[in-house]
Amino acid sequence: MNHLDTVIEIDGVEHTYGTGAKALAGVDLTIGRGEFVAIIGRNGSGKTTLAKHFNGLLRPTNPGGAVRLHTRDGRTVDTRGTRLHHLAATVGYVFQNPDRQIFHDTCREELEYGPRNIGADPETLAREVSETMELVGLEGREDTNPIHLSRGERQRLAIASTLVMGCDVAVIDEPTTGQDRAESRKILDSLAHHHALGRTVVIISHDMALVAEYATRVIAMRQGRVLTDGTPAEVFSQREVLQETNIRPPQAAVLAAELGLPGVLTVDDAVREMSAALGGTRSGPAPLPHDDKVS
Ligand SMILES: Nc1ncnc2c1ncn2[C@@H]1O[C@H](COP(=O)(O)OP(=O)(O)O)[C@@H](O)[C@H]1O
Ligand SMILES: [Mg+2]
Repeated sequence: MNHLDTVIEIDGVEHTYGTGAKALAGVDLTIGRGEFVAIIGRNGSGKTTLAKHFNGLLRPTNPGGAVRLHTRDGRTVDTRGTRLHHLAATVGYVFQNPDRQIFHDTCREELEYGPRNIGADPETLAREVSETMELVGLEGREDTNPIHLSRGERQRLAIASTLVMGCDVAVIDEPTTGQDRAESRKILDSLAHHHALGRTVVIISHDMALVAEYATRVIAMRQGRVLTDGTPAEVFSQREVLQETNIRPPQAAVLAAELGLPGVLTVDDAVREMSAALGGTRSGPAPLPHDDKVS
């Protein structure tokens, strides 16, 4: 990947908390423009700590470690010497608990707050708010008080309040944890729409079926280091490696591998491969509904 395509550069980063816990033990990574990255790994492996380095919420604690952002206008900024609100134009961050970042009495005010602070004019603001509400499937709810939204809708509102800032990279910490499958899918679809506009998305997730389906790249963490990094197909085929992290590849992939059908990641892939293996003369079954129980 050439330098122009890189948006975040993580160089030899270590992070030790004040308690002495060494959460990152030396991470080197580059995130490219337009990637949809999923960071996976067991609890405590350093995923959140790493993600908070992407926009300067945390900074490397070792003098040799550096995080650099390449901005749209061609500058390179080191998060260590730059104020948070300057970094936020490049990388937006959605906390694991969306209620931590919802403060206003209507969805509209919630979305208007950030862009207005950076000087958006009223016309642009109104357009961006309605486009973003639609992107996350909350159109028509502009005047609703967020307390009347479901948990999943509040998660989408929190995501929207970051996306509306127009940042190049959106980092979302565990967007689907505690959500049912239908809501998880709406959340991921919102992010996929945003990604389709050419933006970069980074999620932290424990839902391997969704990771396999939506991400273009998977980074597995273990004990503060990157254990493996590649396409979903590359990472999920390393079953022995993933065992060290307690991560099981998507069930559809495991089942298909047992049946001698490599390269399967999703239920839809599995259905296609299995019907081809069974003769391939049938047009194949109808696609499975997406609220299936396979994960
Ligand atoms: N604010 C904090 N203060 C002290 N230790 C922390 C803090 N946040 C995380 N840690 C520790 O750092 C390590 C990595 O945590 P974290 O980055 O939250 O992992 P993950 O997101 O993968 O669950 C864990 O050992 C955790 O206990
Ligand atoms: Mg975490």
